[in-house]
Amino acid sequence: MKVVVAETAGFCFGVKRAVDKVYEQIECAEVKKIYTYGPIIHNEEVVNDLADKGVSIIESKDELRGVKEGIVIIRSHGVDKEVYDIAKENNLQIVDATCPFVLKIHKIVEKEKNNGSHIIIIGNKDHPEVQGIRGWSGENTTIIGNEEEADKLSVDPGEKICIVSQTTFNYNKFKYLVEIISKKSYDINVLDTICNATHERQAEAKKIAANVDSMIVIGGKNSSNTQKLYEICRKECEKTYYIQTVEDIDLCELQSSSCVGITAGASTPNNIIEEVHTNVRKF
Ligand code: F3S
Repeated sequence: MKVVVAETAGFCFGVKRAVDKVYEQIECAEVKKIYTYGPIIHNEEVVNDLADKGVSIIESKDELRGVKEGIVIIRSHGVDKEVYDIAKENNLQIVDATCPFVLKIHKIVEKEKNNGSHIIIIGNKDHPEVQGIRGWSGENTTIIGNEEEADKLSVDPGEKICIVSQTTFNYNKFKYLVEIISKKSYDINVLDTICNATHERQAEAKKIAANVDSMIVIGGKNSSNTQKLYEICRKECEKTYYIQTVEDIDLCELQSSSCVGITAGASTPNNIIEEVHTNVRKF
């Protein structure tokens, strides 16, 4: 059986940077308690390892209000301004691991908000990155995640519109939703803020999936970029499997495949990809 592993599979620059920052803090924080605001990545194995090393997760602003000392690490998804404000009020040390590509979106939407634009965020409204961006774009914001929401969009015709995207959104879907909005003849400024790592990962996954008999997509079940990778691969290859670890592979399913492709979301550590690769190859 031939096995093709995507070169872009696994940690992207922003996720690697965030995870590294937590381990750096563990090494040098000495007595200070370390928290991450939300799980640092959507990967149980990494999160459990950090918990074993004494890192706790703060799940909400209310919880953060109750923390009076220690270090709070902001993950790559970024957060809204209130989180920084609460941390400062409580004299907490902030280690900001917000991905620079996400920070750039915060700056864009804040500037456009101040210019009076209506901000449209194309993305998943429940995703922490989108909620963080929403915190910088103000009240005059609409989040659009699907065709129906794009169709329903209704904005004052005199308003300027600025469209940005969640960094990990599906590029083709973004283009399609922008097309729907563009037909409404508003004054639109479109900024494709999908990050290059996502473009490349999705393009490579699509290409591999189109040329293999089975495709394996590895990533946490809550990882939105992995879910999108799965959708993309599934369109190209009917036998696409979404797994979290090597234990989820049903090797019998791969029996009739002579060529298997493997890709992984941005929060999948290399050792998991390697394990899956080794197991499939042995089979
Ligand atoms: Fe940053 Fe792109 Fe990763 S925005 S966190 S490098 S997917």
